[in-house]
Amino acid sequence: AFTIKKICCIGAGYVGGPTMSVIAQQCPDIQITLVDMNAERIAAWNDPDLDRLPIYEPGLSAIVEEARGRNLFFSTDVEAAIEEADMIFISVNTPTKNYGKGKGMAADLKYIELCARQIAAVATSDKIVVEKSTLPVRTAAALKSILHNTGSAVNFHILSNPEFLAEGTAVQDLLNPDRVLIGGENKDAIQALVDIYSRWVETDRILTTNLWSSELSKLTANAFLAQRVSSINSISELCEKTGADVQEVARAIGMDSRIGSKFLKASVGFGGSCFQKDILNLVYIARTYNLQEVADYWEQVIVMNNHQKQRFADNIIQTLFNTVNGKKIAILGWAFKKDTNDTRESAAIYVSDYLLNEQADIHVYDPKVPAEKVFVDLEHLNSRPLDETRRLVSVSEDPYEACKDAHAVAILTEWDEFKEYDWSKIKRHMKSPAFVFDGRKLLDRKQLEDLGFIYYAIGE
Ligand code: NAI
Repeated sequence: AFTIKKICCIGAGYVGGPTMSVIAQQCPDIQITLVDMNAERIAAWNDPDLDRLPIYEPGLSAIVEEARGRNLFFSTDVEAAIEEADMIFISVNTPTKNYGKGKGMAADLKYIELCARQIAAVATSDKIVVEKSTLPVRTAAALKSILHNTGSAVNFHILSNPEFLAEGTAVQDLLNPDRVLIGGENKDAIQALVDIYSRWVETDRILTTNLWSSELSKLTANAFLAQRVSSINSISELCEKTGADVQEVARAIGMDSRIGSKFLKASVGFGGSCFQKDILNLVYIARTYNLQEVADYWEQVIVMNNHQKQRFADNIIQTLFNTVNGKKIAILGWAFKKDTNDTRESAAIYVSDYLLNEQADIHVYDPKVPAEKVFVDLEHLNSRPLDETRRLVSVSEDPYEACKDAHAVAILTEWDEFKEYDWSKIKRHMKSPAFVFDGRKLLDRKQLEDLGFIYYAIGE
């Protein structure tokens, strides 16, 4: 049996940060050190001003305040933390490869491999190594091979413990998970991790499987979730042509208990760092095994999502009399969903990019995303010279200012506060006719039409 007194987590990001904070809160007797090679991020985690933590999640700062300095520590000294830990979580990023073989599809595992090599080089006592990052199925085989060929007498046990939290509700999801999944080969190592979670999670919600099932379950879960969004989005387009209303259709099918009502909301498309990358990864793995039908099937989820973003932008352009050149368009919401400051793969980036191709004047407002992030996100696309982006895009700290003199407002994130705005005031200061393109079906059609807006929502 293993006794876990010290945990180290490599990668203090959207997953490592909240996950370790909650474990530290629930297990005050275990010392947890989160390490990251990004010194700025670690400094932000250590910032006395809790509003400046690098990640915004409802409820997170209170937990950090409770545990930080007691049994939760943030450091850039990766090696020291590895050496003293009994259990090491790897929670580094696994982005889509942007070079070489599998470019644009496969997961880039260089960060994972670096971690394994660093652990192999530093460890002087036995360790349980936990894959927390989302990984291609069979990655544990590669980790094993790196860790077991060090020539030292240190034993390593590898577990897969994928994370199912959703950004925006990370703390709630961690405190009250639908399930915790632990894959592994060594019973005692599995038990050591079960013992940690079972301090606050009922044991019948803690599933143990073999390594490969655990790795593959995470990719599969994200593929199924994204597929539901693309499925309802595909129907939204048909609704717009036929007079059916996608919300009514979603409600009608969702009451079938075999289908279920969650995750059936039509929108401008899913974003976030995971869905697209994990499906591409699944597609790539299927192709690697020469399973073309399986690969094509899942790839269509991405095709549909890209189409949804494109057609949302096309609709704006067409509706504004086929030109947005020089027209001010207010973008409300830049984060990929509400209650997070994460913008990775956000639909807002792509919709704005299409509008910028048409020389639109983009004014962005988001309650949690800093201005510089908006520019960096657009510049990463490499669609146009930097000075052109800076000329065409502005970011406002005030939503009313963002909407002032605009021809159209596009709602791209479902932030609750957008519902509370004084839309009659917004209308008074916009150009006429004043258009609202609601990519999240957030606002009330009747209310907006009564105020004189021309209102478009997806799937109506
Ligand atoms: P992130 O990019 O926010 O954080 C990863 C951190 O790892 C970065 O701060 C980076 O500097 C650090 N890092 C990378 N290599 C390192 C090394 N060798 N040594 C020290 N630090 C290193 O990524 P995020 O969103 O936390 O995702 C991590 C993993 O969790 C990914 O595999 C992702 O697919 C998965 N995941 C993400 C979820 C999400 O909602 N963001 C949900 C469930 C799983």
